[in-house]
Amino acid sequence: MSDDDQIQRVERLLAVTQQLTHIGSWQWDLATNVVTWSDELFRIYGYEPRSREITFEFFLSCLVPDDRARVQGEVGAALERGEPFAYVERVVRPDGSVRVLDTVGEPTRDAAGHVTGLIGTCRDVTEERRRDEQIQLYGDIVRNMQIGIAVWEVGAPDDMKSIRLVAYNPAAERVSRRSLEGTIGKSLFEVLPYSEGGFLPGLIAEVARDGVVREGALDRGRNPEQPDRTLAVKSFPLPGGRVGIAVEDTTEKTKMVRLQAAEHRMLERLAAGAPLPEALGTLVSAVEEHLGGCRGAILQLDPEGRYVHYVAAPNVPPAFVTGIEGQPVGPTSGSSGTAMHRRAPVYTIDTETDPGWGDYRELARKNAIRACWSTPILATDGRVLGALAIYHPSARAPSPGDIAAMDRATRLAGLAIERRQLEDQLRELSAHVESIREDERATIAREIHDDLGQALTALKLDIAWLSRRLAGASSRDDVTMPEKLRAMSDMTDEVIERVRRISSELRPGVLDDLGLLAALEWQGQEFEQRTEVTCAIRSNVGDEQLGPALSTGIFRIFQEALTNVARHARAHHVDVTLERGAGELLLVVRDDGVGIAPEATRSLRSLGLLGMRERARRLGGAAVVQAAQGGGTVVEVRVPLAQATS
Ligand SMILES: Nc1ncnc2c1ncn2[C@@H]1O[C@H](COP(=O)(O)OP(=O)(O)OP(=O)(O)O)[C@@H](O)[C@H]1O
Ligand SMILES: [Mg+2]
Repeated sequence: MSDDDQIQRVERLLAVTQQLTHIGSWQWDLATNVVTWSDELFRIYGYEPRSREITFEFFLSCLVPDDRARVQGEVGAALERGEPFAYVERVVRPDGSVRVLDTVGEPTRDAAGHVTGLIGTCRDVTEERRRDEQIQLYGDIVRNMQIGIAVWEVGAPDDMKSIRLVAYNPAAERVSRRSLEGTIGKSLFEVLPYSEGGFLPGLIAEVARDGVVREGALDRGRNPEQPDRTLAVKSFPLPGGRVGIAVEDTTEKTKMVRLQAAEHRMLERLAAGAPLPEALGTLVSAVEEHLGGCRGAILQLDPEGRYVHYVAAPNVPPAFVTGIEGQPVGPTSGSSGTAMHRRAPVYTIDTETDPGWGDYRELARKNAIRACWSTPILATDGRVLGALAIYHPSARAPSPGDIAAMDRATRLAGLAIERRQLEDQLRELSAHVESIREDERATIAREIHDDLGQALTALKLDIAWLSRRLAGASSRDDVTMPEKLRAMSDMTDEVIERVRRISSELRPGVLDDLGLLAALEWQGQEFEQRTEVTCAIRSNVGDEQLGPALSTGIFRIFQEALTNVARHARAHHVDVTLERGAGELLLVVRDDGVGIAPEATRSLRSLGLLGMRERARRLGGAAVVQAAQGGGTVVEVRVPLAQATS
């Protein structure tokens, strides 16, 4: 092989090497300012090999503008020092794409040792850089993410002891609330001793076995050091038979969900008509659980806005409640009394030192209360309705989270109290209207009965007298006269009867004279005559007086029940029982008709049913209307006797 062949072979070899490694080479001759690029370098710059002349200025023009001054400086320094150099530059290809090049080089010298130019190589590191950046980004994500990540190696899925820690991120330490330093390579039970017997080892082993993602919630209680925490855990397969665990601290979220659920329950209870203390008690318990380690109470202010009254204090010591109950509000009335007085929250951090607690310090001390936070409950029109109070056994200030939870509960309590007040007002109003109506009916009934009835009776007597006289006179002239008079007398009887009926329908006198049972019986007979539906009444109630409000209320409910049977039931028979039981009166009206549709019992348009329920409620009891088992409809009314007779 000739020397030329040899050189050609070496050059080819070099070109191939450059192409494979994406390394281009160059040489710059200072004397001629000619730069020689290898074929691969042309390609790296985005040009056909040897497609143009290269000068130093052209080289500079290829750089990203931001890099030009710096690279020029590097080159100048290299020439000046005459030493090897290295820098990174970014070049823009003709198609606009940017490549990152890693350049190393050194000066060339003549025989006398003077620098004649530079020689060097450029490696296209664009892809490498991109990969590095990606790795860096993933690293940043894993390090900074707020979800704990731990990677485990599972030696044998059937052997939980073979699960070993491979890697973890800082959030894993925060979530597990322990330092994981030095735990890489340790077994799961060494790293998290309390996980033994829990679901975590199984979760990891199962994912290692079948590669399917699994989820779980590490609920309170597993880790004795942190009893109140909830963690959400996700287990996922990783390449190489490893298993990743992502853990999120859901304590706050879970607590919030629980609080919301409890608030929801309270609103539902309230809407269902539960007593205010019960509904607010649910709310107080929920706030206690949310805040932890405290006791809560809701106090109401009397209508004059002067004295406090505990509505719900399920866990506050009774002695404390008794001590505060009925106390006046004012500028130094503990926390709640002061909060209501000022219409602003009062957070007493220490009752021992707080000037507002002077009068109640001893009471607080005796009942192990040291801190008390109170927020006033305001109505939508700004009236003070009451206060929410949170008592702590040790001195402490509320956290922003505590304050937020209290504010929520306070607003909700305000809605509940105000709504109930409005309901009570409406109920009182309707009771008032109803009693006026009942009085009016009674008056009209009496007037019709007495005035009209008496006048008609007098008329009838006159007719009788006239007819006797006429018979005596035995008038031959007018034979039609006696007949006429008989007709007048019959007509008068009928009018008297009609007047009686109208008067009874308005307000049956029997109700006032003979009592409820007699009135029901009378109404039942009327009903039978009108409808041909038979009506049987059983009762253990004698003719004792049950009080006008109770009698009238039950009677009106009974009337509506019978009217409904006549109008809707298509029944043949109605069974009625009126029973006096332990402290309560029970009325049951059961028909054997088509049965009431469930929608009708719930519908807000069923005004007749609403009226029955409302009357029962006004008497302190309840009315239930529903389809009876075995067909038909049953109306059941229970009212307490003690309250009703008053
Ligand atoms: N005994 C019954 N048997 C079958 N359906 C009944 C019975 N009582 C009530 N319903 C049904 O319940 C609905 C509501 O009754 P409700 O008394 O509230 O209204 P109403 O009788 O239709 O009108 P009103 O307001 O004049 O009383 C009725 O329309 C009827 O469909
Ligand atoms: Mg009706």
